[in-house]
Amino acid sequence: MDYYFRKDLKNIDHTVSIDVPRCDNMLCLNESPYDPYQIVHDEFHQIMKRVSLNRYFSEVTGEIQEELIKYVGHGVDSHNMIFGNGADEMLYYLFTSLRDSPEDYILSLSPSYFDYKSYSRAVGMNVKFLNLNPDFDFDLKKYITLTRNKHCRLAVLCNPNNPTGNLLNYEKILEVINRVEIPVLIDETYYEFSKVTLLDEVMKRDDLLVIRSFSKAFSAAGLRFGYMLGNEKLISEIAKVKTAFNSSILVQAFALAILKNKETFLKKVEEISKSRDEIYAKLNLLPHVKIFPTATNFIPFSFGRRSDELFNFLIEKDIALRQIGAHPLLKNFLRVTAGTKQQNQYFFNQVKKWVSAAF
Ligand SMILES: Cc1ncc(COP(=O)(O)O)c(C=O)c1O
Repeated sequence: MDYYFRKDLKNIDHTVSIDVPRCDNMLCLNESPYDPYQIVHDEFHQIMKRVSLNRYFSEVTGEIQEELIKYVGHGVDSHNMIFGNGADEMLYYLFTSLRDSPEDYILSLSPSYFDYKSYSRAVGMNVKFLNLNPDFDFDLKKYITLTRNKHCRLAVLCNPNNPTGNLLNYEKILEVINRVEIPVLIDETYYEFSKVTLLDEVMKRDDLLVIRSFSKAFSAAGLRFGYMLGNEKLISEIAKVKTAFNSSILVQAFALAILKNKETFLKKVEEISKSRDEIYAKLNLLPHVKIFPTATNFIPFSFGRRSDELFNFLIEKDIALRQIGAHPLLKNFLRVTAGTKQQNQYFFNQVKKWVSAAF
């Protein structure tokens, strides 16, 4: 039978799926524990009164742009931005606009966000990885060398990095930006937790992009809203592969309602960060634990070879975590997302119970 599809797809043996346990306490996907509808219900319905879903165009598009410009600051305006279905869709557009040949690749550190691989594969590109050092720093010289190839189209730095949770050294990021000769993407999906941004640099240069998300700080993973920021020249090139109606008016209306209530969400970020620090401190005191500091809403930790046992024990207690041990640097590690104060307390009590029985 003829193969009708792109040749490189033939050898890929699976579709992208996310395999996580379904529990009452979903502490596995770095989501927010708060349902945004409870917070913006009235605002959203007010906005919807003037939105006609029978139309392709709505004034809401201009309004969300204005609100985003105000929120992002740093001199960004509408020419510096693309938005759509999550930070993920920004990756898709960016990779699509950069890919020229099947040998092309993007460069990422490893371990890092798994979807760099899925999206590069989706557009027929490869990914090359440079392993992080055991302290989650990276070798600048090696990184730069890997970019010096005509097929290296983009250097990606996830800051803070998922799943390790750490911020990369700011000066080192600047060195990468200054020394590589290809565009650099900084993934700032966890920006509101880390409060570190490269946006000042973005505005000065025509080879640097930032992506951000509404899935974490703005509590809206299911909404699918994210944005990319860059110099006007870069953004106008990427916009050539963006479809006209990629972003739903309904989603934009909800995202607008969120931005009009941003203080409430940002206050929740502070609460989540505080309770994340509390679980970190408590976990850190348990015997046999290995744990890494974090600038995000999640914590990587391990009990060595016994981690899988804990993972399964917690599922029985209706708590889902993520197993992130695929990379040797994180062998046997689990990742817990900070939930509500009560969820965190429940999680910690169960871990403590397991530890006293296990060791
Ligand atoms: C580092 C990183 N980048 C991007 C994303 C995707 O964000 P979004 O839900 O906005 O597509 C995630 C989601 O977990 C992430 O951790």
